[in-house]
Amino acid sequence: MGIKTTYKAKSFDLSGLSGISDETLAMHFKLYEGYVTNTNTLNEKIAELIKGGELDATKTAAYSEMKRRLGFEYNGMVLHEYYFENMMKQGTGDAKKDTAFAKAAEKSFGSYEVWKADFVATGKMRGVGWAATYQDPSNGELSNHWINLHETGNVAGYTPVLIMDVWEHAFIKDYAPADRPKYIEAFFSNIDWSAVSGRLA
Ligand SMILES: [Fe+2]
Repeated sequence: MGIKTTYKAKSFDLSGLSGISDETLAMHFKLYEGYVTNTNTLNEKIAELIKGGELDATKTAAYSEMKRRLGFEYNGMVLHEYYFENMMKQGTGDAKKDTAFAKAAEKSFGSYEVWKADFVATGKMRGVGWAATYQDPSNGELSNHWINLHETGNVAGYTPVLIMDVWEHAFIKDYAPADRPKYIEAFFSNIDWSAVSGRLA
């Protein structure tokens, strides 16, 4: 990253998903844009504090607080981009056997079904966060992870392959809080498997 970098919110053409309403998406895009704005704002403020090339000792507390928040805002921005980019209109449900993703899942988990059971169970965990399938760039293996909030649980250097938002805001307009499994089912019907496979090394 560079503290002089200004990020621009991306736009996603997703209206008409199955089981995830346009109303949910509109609200979710706004939340995502907030992460982009906050990332930029934090970077600007940090840049101001170190403008002279040295941090004024009286600003250390403010600086530290902003640095701690960076992980939350950055990952909030980036994970939402992975999430929206791994969905598509007119999705076809589960990955077909001949896709690169299904083959990678079979290699790492024994079968696509076992990978899916693990991923779905991760997404159903109590708490606020994300389910993620990562690829280890050193050996190509896939593994599923729970990300608490946006920043805790990401594996450094691993490549995000499939990202699912399970914060309540991702589905609360469409499903009751206890119906997260129904949202996860809806999410699966909208996955863009070619985008997901394209992230594999
Ligand atoms: Fe979200």
